Amino acid sequence: MMKLFGTALVTTGLFFTLTATGLVAEQQAKTATQITVPENYQNRFVRYSTVDQIGPKKVRFLYVNPEALRDAKPGQPAPYGTTIVMEDHRVELDGEGNPVLDSHGRLIPTDEIIAIIMQQKEKGWGADQADGDTLNVDWGYGIFTAEGIARAGIKYQSCHACHNRVAPQDYNFSFASFLERFKGE
Ligand code: HEC
Repeated sequence: MMKLFGTALVTTGLFFTLTATGLVAEQQAKTATQITVPENYQNRFVRYSTVDQIGPKKVRFLYVNPEALRDAKPGQPAPYGTTIVMEDHRVELDGEGNPVLDSHGRLIPTDEIIAIIMQQKEKGWGADQADGDTLNVDWGYGIFTAEGIARAGIKYQSCHACHNRVAPQDYNFSFASFLERFKGE
């Protein structure tokens, strides 16, 4: 019961925020991305990590631009211009639709890309995208088809809300820990 009550309160709060600031303007701002998918990133960028997602049956390839990797320092905010591309790949399935695992127990990615998911750090992009409603003022987010077309109707506030949880790592889940391993003492 307590839980249900809590959810209702949150929903009501959100409703008032939306109506108070003007629903139309808010929706436009929050479904737009400033990012474009960089040309030739698969060859030009550095692939720094691979994440298996067993439940959703996908493997994520993570890439960063080489300039950012060169300039970034462990434990410090990423430099402006840092561009991270995350490719979600479909995985090989058996006859029953269950993921096939390789000899190391890892999922086997196919070449089929389900989505290209990005974040890019530029001054003020986060604040603009979330109408100031985020701690994360400099990272813009974007989600695209495999062909690089921005998906319509994405509420980018949700990206900000979750990535706000890793504020001490410059709002980044995977890149900060990679830097620590790659360049740390
Ligand atoms: C519920 C939490 C959550 C939400 C919502 C979310 N992310 Fe993430 N994001 C993660 C986690 C966790 C990772 C690390 C990779 C993994 O474990 O799959 C990640 C990784 C990323 C990365 C790779 C860089 C990094 O931080 O590791 C990008 C780019 C990214 N997310 C973009 C987005 C975009 C764009 C949206 C909104 C459409 C979004 N995220 C929404 C949790 C979230």
